[in-house]
Amino acid sequence: MTDLSATAAQGAPIPTADEVRDWPYVRLLAAMRESNLPPGGLDTVRRFAVELSLGAHTRVLHAGCNSGFLSRELARRTGCTALGIDISPDMAAAANARAESEGLGRLVRYEARDMRDTGLPAESFDVVLSGGALAFVIDQPRAVEEWLRLVKPNGLVANSELWYHAEPPQKLLDKVSELIGVPVPRYTRDHWMDLYDSPRLQPWVSHDAEAGARSDTEVERYCAEMVAVITREWDDAARAALYERLLGVFLTFNENMKFLSYTFFAYRVLPANSEPLLYV
Ligand SMILES: C[S@@+](CC[C@H](N)C(=O)[O-])C[C@H]1O[C@@H](n2cnc3c(N)ncnc32)[C@H](O)[C@@H]1O
Repeated sequence: MTDLSATAAQGAPIPTADEVRDWPYVRLLAAMRESNLPPGGLDTVRRFAVELSLGAHTRVLHAGCNSGFLSRELARRTGCTALGIDISPDMAAAANARAESEGLGRLVRYEARDMRDTGLPAESFDVVLSGGALAFVIDQPRAVEEWLRLVKPNGLVANSELWYHAEPPQKLLDKVSELIGVPVPRYTRDHWMDLYDSPRLQPWVSHDAEAGARSDTEVERYCAEMVAVITREWDDAARAALYERLLGVFLTFNENMKFLSYTFFAYRVLPANSEPLLYV
C-alpha cells in the first residue's frame, strides 16, 4: 500500500482554511492522492487475479489506470507484467512513481495514452482489463473495439462497472454532479452488457453485487484519518476546513452508493473461424 504520509510530505505549499474551502473538487482529489479502487474494491481485485488466471506469464493492459492501484496489486499478487495507460499524463507519472517506490518497476509501467486509440501493436496482450474507467469515456464502443484489437486470440477482456439498481433521487444526483463538475450518467446493467454484445466475445465469468455503502461513522473515521495523514504541518483552521470538505463529499458519495451495484465480467476473445458451441 502507498505510504500517504510520505507523499503528503512532498506536497504543495500549506494552504489556508479559506483556500481549502474554495478548492475545486479535482484539487481536493490531488491533495488526497487517493488510491482509486475498481468497483467492488479488493474483492474485485481478487477476481481479476483469480478468474483471469493471471501469472508470471501474463501480459496485461490496464486501461484507464488512474493511480495504478489495480495493476500494482495484481503484479504484486500474481507476478504478471502490466502496462497501465491513462489519458492524463499526470496520472501516468504518479503511477510510475508509486510503482518505483513499491519496488514494482520491473513488472509494471505506465504511459499516457487514450484507450480509444492507443497506438499499441495489435494482439500484444493476453488480458485487457479496466476497473470503472470506461464510465468516464466518451464513445465507449470505440474503446472496447480497441481493447479487442489489442488482445491475442483466446485472450480475455475484463471489466468492473457501476450501475444503478434503484432510481436515485434527482436531488442526490444533482448534488453529486455539482461536486464532481460533470453530469452523473445513469448507467444500467444492460448498458454494460450491450457494449460487449459481439459474436467475437464468449462470456467467461460475471459477478454482480451491491456496491455497498458504509455507515456514517465509517465515513467520518475515514475522513478523519485522511485529514491526519495529509495535514501534518497545517494549522488547525485549515485542518478543520479540510475535514468539513471531505465529510461533505464522502457523505454525499456514500448516499449515492446505496443505489449502486457493480458487475465484474470477463469475455474470451474468440479466434477467427471458431467452432460454434451450443452449450457453452
Ligand atoms: C475513476 S478512474 C478509474 C480507475 C480504476 N478505478 C482502476 O481501478 O483502474 C478513471 C480514469 O480513467 C481515465 N480516463 C478517462 N478517459 C480515458 C481515456 N479515453 N483513455 C485512457 N484513460 C482515460 C481518467 O483519467 C481516470 O484516471
